[in-house]
Amino acid sequence: MLSHIIDVLADPIDGTPLHGADDYSRLVSESGHSYDVARQGYVTLAGGAGLRYAGDDAQMIADRETFLSGGHFAPFVETVSEHVHSAIDAAGLDDDDQPVICEIGAGTGYYLSHTLDSVAGSRGIGIDVSVHAAKHLAKCHPRVGAVVADAWARLPIADSSVDAITVVFAPRNAVEFARILKPSGQVIVLTPEIGHLSELREPLGIIDVEAGKVDRMIEQAAGHLKPVGESDLVEFEMMLDQQSIASQIGMSPSARHIKPEALAERIKALPEHMKVTARARVTRLQRL
Ligand SMILES: C[S@@+](CC[C@H](N)C(=O)[O-])C[C@H]1O[C@@H](n2cnc3c(N)ncnc32)[C@H](O)[C@@H]1O
Repeated sequence: MLSHIIDVLADPIDGTPLHGADDYSRLVSESGHSYDVARQGYVTLAGGAGLRYAGDDAQMIADRETFLSGGHFAPFVETVSEHVHSAIDAAGLDDDDQPVICEIGAGTGYYLSHTLDSVAGSRGIGIDVSVHAAKHLAKCHPRVGAVVADAWARLPIADSSVDAITVVFAPRNAVEFARILKPSGQVIVLTPEIGHLSELREPLGIIDVEAGKVDRMIEQAAGHLKPVGESDLVEFEMMLDQQSIASQIGMSPSARHIKPEALAERIKALPEHMKVTARARVTRLQRL
């Protein structure tokens, strides 16, 4: 619910605080800008130019929901939650603090809802540019507020207000992350590594993860954020059937590059069940 996180939200145009008006059917800023809350419970907080990008479409979000609900990425979600837990412990908050966890490109809220369950009293902001994602986010957890916003624009969040930012296979805006993080806060990023889904790449014609992704991310963040220790590799095997493979590909950018009929043919030619490697790296960053 947006009321849980209203103290952290800010007007995307001028950064002034927001409050709920007319029984939270609108959020209104100190400077008088008004943002309607959709009946599904999310709010779009975009500056004057609006959103330039629609994000994941309804089918991609449905495929993401199907795949993740199969539990195939459980080791990823556990790792992300453990790192958030440890970052919040390291910050030494008081027992009655209600840490704010903000996920950027939060999709269906699978990761954010698990993280909120693992950090007592925490509150979550799920940000995604896709309204289809936001509809899921708004109902993924009682302590989540769902916001449609562009990660590359000024984030609709107050300065120094967030304890942990999570980014799972989604865009990273180091300048904005450094602005919204509390001085003791951390960013926890999960990025795919070479070898992720390797068994599917050739048969399905999907491109591999680029080399040096983490190093490049750290370089791009320099001047705003610095790494906390070394990054951790998370690697495990999944046993996937053809339907799970179809939803895994459907939820990824590869879905946009292959014609649906060609993809369906290639998936049909795979074994009924196959072992597929999942491989990603968790990196933690903090303010300079
Ligand atoms: C690969 S998905 C990851 C979703 C989620 N983190 C997960 O792993 O289940 C990337 C998500 O980022 C969102 N996204 C892409 N570009 C964005 C942007 N500029 N601002 C906010 N969200 C964005 C997409 O709509 C999509 O939901």
